[in-house]
Amino acid sequence: MASLVAQKPIDTILAEAHETGEHCLKRALGPINLITLGIGAIIGTGIFVLTGAAAALYAGPAIVLSFVLAGIGCVFAGLCYAEFASLIPIAGSAYTYGYATLGEIFAWIIGWDLILEYGFGAATVASGWSGYVISLFQDFRLRIPPALAGTPGQPFVLYHGRWESLARIRRALDLAHIDPGTLPHQMGVFNLVAFLAIAAVTTVLVIGIKESANFNSFIVIVKVAVLLVFVGLGVNYLAAHKELSTANWHPFVPPNLGEFGKYGWSGVARAAGVIFFAYIGFDAVSTAAQEARKPERDMPVGILGSLLICTVLYILVSGVLTGLVKYDSLNVPDPIAVGIDQTGVRWGSLLVKIGAICGLSSTMVVMLLGQSRVFFSMSRDGLLPKWASKVHTRFRTPYLSSIFVGLFVAAFASVIPISILGELVSIGTLLAFVIVCAGVWILRVRRPQLARPFRTPWVPLVPIMGILISGLMMVSLPRDTWLRLIVWLIIGMFIYFFYGRKHSRVQTGTVEVSTPPVGATYTQSNK
Ligand code: ALA
Repeated sequence: MASLVAQKPIDTILAEAHETGEHCLKRALGPINLITLGIGAIIGTGIFVLTGAAAALYAGPAIVLSFVLAGIGCVFAGLCYAEFASLIPIAGSAYTYGYATLGEIFAWIIGWDLILEYGFGAATVASGWSGYVISLFQDFRLRIPPALAGTPGQPFVLYHGRWESLARIRRALDLAHIDPGTLPHQMGVFNLVAFLAIAAVTTVLVIGIKESANFNSFIVIVKVAVLLVFVGLGVNYLAAHKELSTANWHPFVPPNLGEFGKYGWSGVARAAGVIFFAYIGFDAVSTAAQEARKPERDMPVGILGSLLICTVLYILVSGVLTGLVKYDSLNVPDPIAVGIDQTGVRWGSLLVKIGAICGLSSTMVVMLLGQSRVFFSMSRDGLLPKWASKVHTRFRTPYLSSIFVGLFVAAFASVIPISILGELVSIGTLLAFVIVCAGVWILRVRRPQLARPFRTPWVPLVPIMGILISGLMMVSLPRDTWLRLIVWLIIGMFIYFFYGRKHSRVQTGTVEVSTPPVGATYTQSNK
């Protein structure tokens, strides 16, 4: 057997990619398309949902600084992704980069870890999506029973004729001196709305989807416009109610409560680890490397451009949000809607909800698509069973892997609270970033002669900064999240040693360029 760190030769990977037709794609995407693609994948539950909990529980108004910190960390990692994306321009993303540079065991860890990013990521987005859908339905007097609207044990109370998550309205009740115990209440049992969302997206992925660039652009315009409208209405309201922002923004960094991560500067770091989720998705740009007209120029533009635009938007949105609503009331499933409710503009709230529902849908598609791509690549390398790369003869999609992933993700989305999901996704993705940054540095040392169309500047400084900032955000995440990550990795190791290592094509010496059954059809969605 080959060593645990046996590498899959870059030449083999490129040859396989060529055989699959991934290099035969039309190089049609320019810098604007790539920036749009990135924004389409990036803006989702992070800003529309998790911002609220991160401000309420960890950072207060200083959530703005958390967005700056997380954005800077992502730029370093983004520069490393850009180098790999131009060097190995195929769809396997970090898993393939790991296989080519660090060896099989690391590739397995990244691939297993990417389930946290994409699979659990889709579950998180579905959970956030359900919060907005339930809220919108109630605006039209359609009530979904609380038992089917929340995760097990999530409390709901009937208030003003609406079933509201208790977390969402607790502060309003406090201010009105209403004891929630006196209101009719019910518990969530199974989040059916989130379950159905994943089921619907899975169906779309099984049948096959070819998002057009225009469709993606449309969704992006809706998402960005909604956030800009929120900022516009919020700034307008705050300008007329200066006392509100003064009260809500002070103290900007709430004093630490004596526990790491509970406000203060450690809270800023911990919130950065949580809302880092909001930036996930720029790596999706790297999977379109082979479609870029000039990858060496356009990949950094796409990755860094989308990151920059989203960072500015996020800073504005979180600043306005914490000005409109006291941070401790923001631990709710739909904080942006709560913020706009404060302005009293009814159509604004409706617009935010519709924008979030549209925007989050496309993020779910990208996440589940990414997950089935990673499973597909791992299965073709022999690390996962063959059925995971079985392609439907008519739809030409990896349908079994999509259905398998869809079932698990739907189950997670319906029973695990969004805060746990989101933190798990953040820690998993940060780990992938650490490994990708290390990979760039290691490959520079081992294979300095490789022709790199785009070179990460200031190596090893940039990879080291990427590792340090990602590591800092990881360290600042709660202990329970670490424990879950460790348990997840241990489960992964069992599967690797009992299955993957025995069947790996690299280990068994059967790496070969085969003619795969699927090419650009399912891997490309942005033509
Ligand atoms: N960045 C994506 C989101 O916030 C994953 O939903």
